[in-house]
Amino acid sequence: MDIGRHSVNLVVPAIPFSDRIMLGIESSCDDTSIAVLRGNELLGQFAAVQHVHAKYGGVVPEFASRAHQAHIVPVLEGALEKSRCTLTDLQGVAYTRGPGLQGSLLVGSAFARSLAWSLDIPIYAVHHMQAHVVAHWMSDAAPNPDRPMMALTVSGGHTQLLHVRSPQDMEVVGTTLDDAAGEAFDKVAKMLGLPYPGGPEVDRLAGLGDPGAFTFAEPRVSGHDFSFSGLKTSVLRVLERELNGGTTIPEGVLQDVCASVQAAIVGILIHKLEQATDAFGLSAIAIQGGVSANSGLRQAVEALGLRRGWKVHIPPFRYCTDNGAMIALTGQYAAELGATGKLDEAPLARWPLV
Ligand code: KG4
Ligand code: ZN
Repeated sequence: MDIGRHSVNLVVPAIPFSDRIMLGIESSCDDTSIAVLRGNELLGQFAAVQHVHAKYGGVVPEFASRAHQAHIVPVLEGALEKSRCTLTDLQGVAYTRGPGLQGSLLVGSAFARSLAWSLDIPIYAVHHMQAHVVAHWMSDAAPNPDRPMMALTVSGGHTQLLHVRSPQDMEVVGTTLDDAAGEAFDKVAKMLGLPYPGGPEVDRLAGLGDPGAFTFAEPRVSGHDFSFSGLKTSVLRVLERELNGGTTIPEGVLQDVCASVQAAIVGILIHKLEQATDAFGLSAIAIQGGVSANSGLRQAVEALGLRRGWKVHIPPFRYCTDNGAMIALTGQYAAELGATGKLDEAPLARWPLV
């Protein structure tokens, strides 16, 4: 499709990485987040969270895309204000091309491509799962992570083990066969009558309970893959037993269930992370994605690193859940490679990361 000034994107200005000002637009699920970076330094980030989904116990795709439409212009204005930049300062626009919810991706991608076209600057199509890993290279994270490393991405939609050789070179070595880790947290939270997203709430209540109070069926999955659907069923059985025909879970039991579920999910993740790191002969590990904000997982990964003498990389909270900064930084690496996107590229709801 010919859309006029499309060809401008093929000429990438030779701006040094450290000076280039890149906008990053994230809209793959229910967070609209936009950041401005100079090199790998965050100048400013602004986000809008969607509360509309809470009463449905999960993201409703149609509502998500409508909310992105309402939020995207004010979020851009907020990001520019926080970073003390104007539109004319921008030297590139990076956006999440996929994977994610098609309607949500469409809003961000159409907005990003229109902006790049109108400003006559290059566009960069970013893979959301790569971006979660790239977040480790932010100047206020661990700007020079040890490589190669075994990186565990744990989010609402994905659970992946990646052999990471550089921000631009990574390979998926294990994945979930059913639910993602974040999905497991959210589904258990829903069973417990907790608000969406349930992960942070389970984390909070887990701090008040006994992680050894309940035990759940352990998944039997070979290799570096994961499974969480059996755990969900096992929690349901425990709840039925504890409720014993009643409808309300006593406060103490609720806290113990949360602590035990969190310990079970963290146990599965740590076991697979350790196994894969050994299998590839590595000595550096990382976690990233929304569930990497979980206090139990953060502690367990630190403990694993200490026990095995491995270097550990855990992102600051602002780069755990979906954020525009990780998209902008992945755009910076794409710019270095001259991997400019195209203005007529459609978003990809499904996009495997090889
Ligand atoms: O990476 P993210 O923001 O979005 C996706 O790409 O999915 O991850 C969102 C997921 C949700 O499932 C949410 O419940 C989970 O991350 N999450 C947590 C915590 N904070 C966010 N899960 C457990 N403990 C937390 N503290
Ligand atoms: Zn994500």
